[in-house]
Amino acid sequence: MTKEKIKVVLDGKERELPVIESTIGNPSIDIRKLGKYNYFTYDPGFTSTSACTSKITYVDGNKGELLYRGYPIEQLAEKCDYLDVSYLLMHGELPDQAQKTVYLKSIASHSLLHDQLNNIFGGFRRDAHPMAVMVGVVGSMSAFYFDNMDINDPNHRQISAQRLIAKIPTIAAWSYTYNLGLPFVYPKNEYDFGTNFLHMLFSRPYKDYEPNPIISKAFEKILILHADHEQNASTSTVRLVGSTGANPYACIAAGIASLWGPAHGGANEATLRMLTEIKDESRIKQYINRAKDKDDEFRLMGFGHRVYRNQDPRAIIMKETCHEVLDELGLNDDPIFKLAMKLEKIALEDEYFIEKKLYPNVDFYSGIVMRAIGIPFSMFTAVFALARTAGWVAHWNEMMMSDESKIGRPRQVYKGKTKRDIK
Ligand code: ACO
Repeated sequence: MTKEKIKVVLDGKERELPVIESTIGNPSIDIRKLGKYNYFTYDPGFTSTSACTSKITYVDGNKGELLYRGYPIEQLAEKCDYLDVSYLLMHGELPDQAQKTVYLKSIASHSLLHDQLNNIFGGFRRDAHPMAVMVGVVGSMSAFYFDNMDINDPNHRQISAQRLIAKIPTIAAWSYTYNLGLPFVYPKNEYDFGTNFLHMLFSRPYKDYEPNPIISKAFEKILILHADHEQNASTSTVRLVGSTGANPYACIAAGIASLWGPAHGGANEATLRMLTEIKDESRIKQYINRAKDKDDEFRLMGFGHRVYRNQDPRAIIMKETCHEVLDELGLNDDPIFKLAMKLEKIALEDEYFIEKKLYPNVDFYSGIVMRAIGIPFSMFTAVFALARTAGWVAHWNEMMMSDESKIGRPRQVYKGKTKRDIK
């Protein structure tokens, strides 16, 4: 849908570049033909580059708006469960009752792991980080589920996507129980998606996990808020790996690896570790000063976002949820929570954070909620990964369906030596 053209002057010659309009949001200049004129564009970090067209998620960083398939995140978090949202991301519409029944049945039937996968867990050190185990186990799924792995067959893609959504909670929970040296807890189909994960994480052979509706609702919200966020680093990783024709399990394993970094999904764990390190309100100023110091690499974890230059709408929902959970569990006097609220207040009143439009992001609060629920720090990013799987598979599927997809292969500005001979 080209509306207008942009004129650029290259080597004294005027060239016209088409503009691709979005349904909402900025248009993009189509620079695909620039190479023909012997020019590339330079944009490390892709701050101004659209790598694809997509119909899945829209983020307006200035307004602080997030839509999945057009629906505002606030409505989805209130009215839907995670599996509704995962269906929406993949199929474009929320499921009706009949579609939901079939979908739930399929997810439930895929939640177990092939028994041989237990041996793969056994190959890891007991103290391995759950994300390291997840990268390995999810990658190895292609060695188990290759029966329906033809990436050009839409039906195979559906099966792989549902297998991933269904099995990742089991893999994530087992990555942690393996750490503890405890037996694996099998999924129970009577639970909703999120509660089932909490059951696999917290049930012990001598005592079943007792679900609490407020905790279950809060956990579903965490999953919904983290389910997708358009072309973030891990989703772009999944698309890049998928663009080579790699199988879906390899793509999602790469997405998990990308998410692990503290600048991305690792931020919730890093935030809680930072709060634990700050320890006392009297030390907040010292850490804020460190975050502002150009010569210090320290950043205030859980603050800032590449796209949001306003409040992260997910953070607003998570903050409310945080209060509900702490009220329910009687944890309002929890020192870490009080410290977090104080830190948030001081940072939001500080000129540096105001001027740079640095607000708390969703992970500032999600870490506090997860800590209150009893989820260990090392599992925070694993929870993010299991939530984001819905977005990853939806983007992978969209890319596989697109006529415009081609292998991702950026160019570079070469700054090395010019041609020379060995003497
Ligand atoms: N603490 C202190 N200063 C910060 C912070 C922070 N958390 N975030 C950004 N800044 C500063 C930068 O130093 C930079 O200053 P400058 O203009 O003087 O050089 C300015 O704000 C802009 O920051 P950029 O690094 O250009 O922003 P970018 O978009 O590249 O980074 C990011 C975004 C990675 C999220 C960054 O804000 C950050 O590291 N935050 C902490 C980690 C975090 O919470 N990540 C979670 C992201 S949300 C998610 O994945 C769900």
